[in-house]
Amino acid sequence: MDYAIETAPLETLQCDCLIVGVYQDQQLSASASSINNSTQGVINKILSRGDISGKNGETVLINVIPDSSIERILLVGLGENKPLSGKNYRKALLAAINSLKKTQIKSVVCSLAECDVMASDWQWKTRQIVEVFNDAVYQFTAYKTDKETESKVEKISITTSETELRSAQTGLIQGKAIAEGINLTKLLADLPGNICTPTYLAQQAFELGKKYPSLDISVLEESDMEKLGMGALLSVSRGSRQPAKLITLDYRGGEKNGKPIVLIGKGLTFDAGGISLKQAPGMDEMKYDMCGGATVLGTLLAAAQMQLPLNIIGLIPSSENMPDGDANKPGDILTSMSGKTIEVLNTDAEGRLLLCDTLTYAERYNPDVVIDLATLTGACLVALGRVPSGLLGNNDALCNDLLAASETANDSLWRLPLWEEYQEQLKSNFADLANVGGKDAGTITAACFLSQFAENFHWAHLDIAGTAWRTGPTKGATGRPVPLLSQYLINRAHG
Ligand code: BES
Ligand code: MN
Ligand code: ZN
Repeated sequence: MDYAIETAPLETLQCDCLIVGVYQDQQLSASASSINNSTQGVINKILSRGDISGKNGETVLINVIPDSSIERILLVGLGENKPLSGKNYRKALLAAINSLKKTQIKSVVCSLAECDVMASDWQWKTRQIVEVFNDAVYQFTAYKTDKETESKVEKISITTSETELRSAQTGLIQGKAIAEGINLTKLLADLPGNICTPTYLAQQAFELGKKYPSLDISVLEESDMEKLGMGALLSVSRGSRQPAKLITLDYRGGEKNGKPIVLIGKGLTFDAGGISLKQAPGMDEMKYDMCGGATVLGTLLAAAQMQLPLNIIGLIPSSENMPDGDANKPGDILTSMSGKTIEVLNTDAEGRLLLCDTLTYAERYNPDVVIDLATLTGACLVALGRVPSGLLGNNDALCNDLLAASETANDSLWRLPLWEEYQEQLKSNFADLANVGGKDAGTITAACFLSQFAENFHWAHLDIAGTAWRTGPTKGATGRPVPLLSQYLINRAHG
């Protein structure tokens, strides 16, 4: 999809469809009013029939427009005639793009950046148009014989006044970069485990490095990890025929020798549970256990495309977790890279085994902060459902920065406590710590486990088990939390 800014007057535009807003009680937005005047009052005619009241999310497509090179007009309800909440703005945008599906519309002009939205500037509103539209038209058709997509839209032009041009352009650049990052994350996540293996993920990282020369890619093989003593990570891939990879993306847009922001993403390309085998229903969804890793790739794509003046390191430990004669067994004791020993009480708690060695490995980058993202616990779904990602961390400033970014980005987060008392649950009779903490507070004890490997830096952990993909009839990757992390990086770049 092609996105652009448009500053020409509405009356002079040529397009398949113009999107304009109408408020409740049938009050027209500025663009709606102006196009109404130049088209013999066609919008007023539709309103007087009562086909749209202006409630948020309502839409009417006017299919024939007299005296105009605009072929159609889409009326979108905005709700009450006062500044919209960010959420309602996105709701209206989503309704707009959804109602263009299954039509033949290719070129679209969207005037909705002119809406008043609480605490938002033109930049944010432009960006949201790109992000919401992009999200709605994504379809995973790689393995469908019929690749026809529901949306035929090819070009979206966002109207802007001259005074807001700069702001809109920045929003467009950010929106396009984030949208492209989200697309990559979703695509990799939706790919099945037989295609998207650790080796495939590593290849995709190299491809990204070719496209963005500011990204340096390197990959540690199992033999390299052996030398580093990554006994926890390697124990997981021992049960798989696919070799593990530790993928590094090195982006140096900031000051030379400036401390980097390190992003670590769990890259389990399939999690069968190992010897503690998962049950069959829904197991296909464990192809999504690499969403943390895919998010790191998507976020670094966005950062490189925006040329953010930051140093960022992406680390993706990638493996499968399979049952096998050589797989981890309950009771096995591992020695992690940090030297701490771990008793494996459940082989399905494998994510933390990959992450703990990667956290130790991150120390060599002398990080400013480390943020890990992982589809780590089913317990996170029990605690928080599929609305926010779980946030835990050892540094309040970092957690607050992430919470602030999540609000702006509309990619919600909820912090859970990481109190000392919970560490008790990880005690092992035979090793320094156990890899599971019993049935209570599973998301917190998982984070407690990780915290023992993150003692030497500021660290936050995002449990994205409930937010990285949708289940049910609309099953598919969401691309979260690419928007949140991109926003965090944008904020850091400007702070
Ligand atoms: N990848 C899963 C977590 C998961 C489960 C994410 C369901 C999304 C939906 C993780 O590796 C796992 O299996 N965790 C176990 C931990 C338990 C054994 C302590 C879990 O959540 O059941
Ligand atoms: Mn597991
Ligand atoms: Zn897992």
